[in-house]
Amino acid sequence: MVRVPLSPPRGMDDILPDEMPLHRRLVETVRLLFRLYGYLEVETPPVESYELFAVKSGEEILSHMYVFRDAHGRQLALRPEMTAPIARLMAGRLSRSPKPIRLGYVADCYRLDEPQWGRRRRFYHGGFEIFGSREPAADAECLVIFNDFLRRVGVRDYFFKIGHVGVQRAIMSSAGVTGEGQDKILSLLDKGRVEDAEEMLRQHAASGETVYLFGELARHAPGRADETIERVMEKVGGIKQAAKELENLKKIVELASEVIEPSSLIYYPGFARGLSYYTGFIFEAYGEGVDIALGGGGRYDGLVSLIGGPEMPGVGFAIGLTRVMQYLTDRAAVHARPESPLAYVVPLAGEAVSLAFKLATRLREAGVSAELDPSTYTPQEAIKRAERRGARFLFLIGRREVERNTVSVRDLVERIQEEWRIEEIYGRAESLLGRVRVGS
Ligand code: HAM
Repeated sequence: MVRVPLSPPRGMDDILPDEMPLHRRLVETVRLLFRLYGYLEVETPPVESYELFAVKSGEEILSHMYVFRDAHGRQLALRPEMTAPIARLMAGRLSRSPKPIRLGYVADCYRLDEPQWGRRRRFYHGGFEIFGSREPAADAECLVIFNDFLRRVGVRDYFFKIGHVGVQRAIMSSAGVTGEGQDKILSLLDKGRVEDAEEMLRQHAASGETVYLFGELARHAPGRADETIERVMEKVGGIKQAAKELENLKKIVELASEVIEPSSLIYYPGFARGLSYYTGFIFEAYGEGVDIALGGGGRYDGLVSLIGGPEMPGVGFAIGLTRVMQYLTDRAAVHARPESPLAYVVPLAGEAVSLAFKLATRLREAGVSAELDPSTYTPQEAIKRAERRGARFLFLIGRREVERNTVSVRDLVERIQEEWRIEEIYGRAESLLGRVRVGS
């Protein structure tokens, strides 16, 4: 016998029958939102060329990527995220599509993160990206969709951590720090290394005043977005471009506040994110009592052109579906359970099997999920087995039923039993569906 590991690779999870309905509910909610907000769903391969991510994902992601060579020596990577692959589509085959265009995806992503609660090596993203619009309404839409998602799936207490790297970039630009230098400094900021970020700014010959302003912003206390933006404006207003970027954030917040409770929009002036393609508005969503994000995103206006496409603004976000699922099961007591059939069909004797087959088929044709037990049992055993599978209705066919061309139907909740003629199944099956709908 060959000994193979019975567990998947470390940090990667099988999704088992009792977990699948919740996973599917999250995925279906994402797809419903695609439809409601006009996002066209796309799919890309889990394996991409390494360069796609090397261009602009940032050190944090690059150091956690699964990288390998194929038999021809090509350097490939398992996708750590989906924005770069979607930008690849926009730079290539979709570059001429009418704008703005909204694209959506549900995709598994891979990162060599240290496995722990909510942090896995394979996890799902449900993502939304808008290309071709610089308007704050596009940024605000991201917040509104995420908010809609959280409400629909039952996350009650949450808030959005909001920032704008355009403000920090403007301060750095005013001191002559360019693209890559800015990315490095923002990456330090993302890791909470404010002093190191300031030191690097100094090395880039930024004036003492700029370093001070940058540091002040990085250490500024977070607060309700509408109020905190005004306070920060007083500080950075002197730098024209920084004031303009902050004005942009203000508009995004104003628009989002039309739909989202303003007290759940919290501005963190020192906020930066691990991915270095962001150029403006950024955000993350947090559930109560958990300090890792349920999802995040932001504006990345330079990414499509950087990978060889036309100049094209973009903004979007990804929901961490695997993390949301863990949050719901552990913190919101949403129970994982396997799906049950509505009907459980049991032949009580060998000669009843073919009628049981026919009956199960008719039930399915009428839209009732029906599981057929392939063996024969006594009625008592049949009840036990149907209950174990969580079925509401038990269909029993014994010798008597075969002779009379009928079936005994037992409602396992109401504890009533009826006898139906086989010809009546279609009409009667609908009454079952109705009974369940009324009861649910
Ligand atoms: P991200 O913040 O790296 O952004 O990932 C988005 C979300 O994916 C995180 O907030 C988290 O919920 C989930 N996530 C990340 N790593 C893990 C992990 N190891 N295990 C479980 N869940 C994880 C992006 O990837 C961007 N592409 C988002 C975006 C879209 N920006 C613009 N458009």
